[in-house]
Amino acid sequence: MALRGVIALIFYLAIASAEESTMQYDTIVIGLGSAGVTAASTLARAGRKVLGLEAQDRIGGRVKTVPFGDGVVELGAEWIHGQYPSRVYDTAIQNNITVLSQNLAVDVYQSDGTRDNHELLNGLIMYCLSLVDDTNAKEDSLGAYITRKLKDHLKETHPELLEDKDFLEEFLSLMDLVVDNYVGSSNWNDVSTATKYKELEGDQHLSWHRYGYKTFFELLLNTYKGGPGLANLDIKLNTEVTKIVWPQQPSTPVEVTCKDGKVYKANNVIVTVSVGVLKERHMTLFTPPLPRDKVNAIIGVTMGVMDKIIFSFDKPWWPVSHTFLVFMWKGEDKRKVAKEDFWTTKIFSASTPMGSSNTLTLWTSGETGKWVETIPEEVVKRKSVELLQKFLGANVTIPEPTGMLRTTWYSNPYTRGSYTFDSVSSMKYPNYRADLGKPLPDSAGTPKVLFAGEATDLTHFSTVHGASASGYREAMRLLPHSKI
Ligand SMILES: Cc1cc2nc3c(=O)[nH]c(=O)nc-3n(C[C@H](O)[C@H](O)[C@H](O)COP(=O)(O)OP(=O)(O)OC[C@H]3O[C@@H](n4cnc5c(N)ncnc54)[C@H](O)[C@@H]3O)c2cc1C
Ligand SMILES: *[C@@H]1O[C@H](CO)[C@@H](O)[C@H](O)[C@H]1NC(C)=O
Ligand SMILES: *[C@@H]1O[C@H](CO)[C@@H](O)[C@H](O)[C@H]1NC(C)=O
Repeated sequence: MALRGVIALIFYLAIASAEESTMQYDTIVIGLGSAGVTAASTLARAGRKVLGLEAQDRIGGRVKTVPFGDGVVELGAEWIHGQYPSRVYDTAIQNNITVLSQNLAVDVYQSDGTRDNHELLNGLIMYCLSLVDDTNAKEDSLGAYITRKLKDHLKETHPELLEDKDFLEEFLSLMDLVVDNYVGSSNWNDVSTATKYKELEGDQHLSWHRYGYKTFFELLLNTYKGGPGLANLDIKLNTEVTKIVWPQQPSTPVEVTCKDGKVYKANNVIVTVSVGVLKERHMTLFTPPLPRDKVNAIIGVTMGVMDKIIFSFDKPWWPVSHTFLVFMWKGEDKRKVAKEDFWTTKIFSASTPMGSSNTLTLWTSGETGKWVETIPEEVVKRKSVELLQKFLGANVTIPEPTGMLRTTWYSNPYTRGSYTFDSVSSMKYPNYRADLGKPLPDSAGTPKVLFAGEATDLTHFSTVHGASASGYREAMRLLPHSKI
């Protein structure tokens, strides 16, 4: 570049950054996952000047679609849980995108390679799962409740199994894992039967299959198939927010400082970072510090962990009739597993994703999930193949995988976990989710710092549709008279 060009460029950059630092937005949205993108796009479409700041190099947060195998896989959210009323489902349908129902049938395999009683076992798993949303439990913990109900059920249907201590122990530990991988817990005794979670109406397991869940964000932001985006919305990726100064005076703007030193101003901000992130950084993030009830809610909420290990193969070699191939140990086989490989006994299943035909997902959760995030890739791969061989390989030799992806939602400093659940301990604070979502007003009572995100939805937490609903809720708080 000629010297003149360099000087012109420096001059241009100086003007651009001067403009940037004096520019004041109506709203800054921090974090561009489901909640942030919904809030930002709703406000921008209503004519507000919006800035979206995202720490990572991509949009989507805990939704992350990546090319893998002969299609795509989901490292984060996989299904649309329910249809009515769901902004996620509506967005697909309104844009003529066909989402597919996935039948989540289970089929049990055992550690000695046999399939004895698998029909019976499949039925018992479905029986236990039907109890998860039962609201009539006397027990506090889901583990205690399902254990009692299962024993009563066996007494009537299969009394001989009640006498088989080894069977009962292994089946209960399998059900513990099934529940843990559903809610992100370490132990089903931590999961509260008093949970406020509600399912939406309709199909609970719709898949974006080869489109990928990322399509949801492209549609909201008008970038699908090369769309131009939204005129009133500026987005900055790789931009980690480190400080939010929120003065009490109504006329003084909120100041958001980023790791790169840049400062942005707005009338208000919507914070959508996960509660995992808030737990770790709320003390340094906010000036003045957050009020007591907000801090108590952040401490009180339980962030779960759920991770995936995904393999690709030359071609599928597994039976395709069921989505979840479930692993049930025999006590004698489990006792032979080396101590450092204990985590392999905590993988309850392999499942078949819908975005590709030659990939298989193993699931981990809770403390086991955190542990597996720290094990070297090569070890995870080798031990996982051994596990597949043990349970599924009685009649086939499991081929070497052609690729492996493994998620690290807990190690990731921008999530610090997968999603929240109503734990026995968190339910001691009945209003904690409402407190998490309550805005902080200025001295005139106008919302200045607003909070959205999965964890702030009272009944649809832990989902993409719940996160989206929370983003819409906070956008509407700032657009009280609009008809969007
Ligand atoms: C493995 C897994 C499987 C799941 N499966 C499903 C499923 O099948 N169906 C379903 O409905 N839900 C599922 N979920 C849950 C769902 O993904 C989440 O509830 C939802 O995506 C959360 O959206 P959010 O906007 O609240 O938070 P996030 O998506 O976490 O968005 C917050 C954003 O803030 C950014 N951020 C954090 N700190 C900063 C900072 N300091 N500065 C700037 N930006 C920052 C983050 O990078 C992130 O992009 C799953 C989640 C996981 C992890
Ligand atoms: C969806 O399809 C219908 C019928 O073919 C068409 O009228 C409509 O414009 C389409 N919508 C979008 C967003 O493509
Ligand atoms: C292996 O094949 C035998 C005989 O067909 C069958 O009974 C058994 O269930 C199969 N095992 C597995 C793990 O597929």
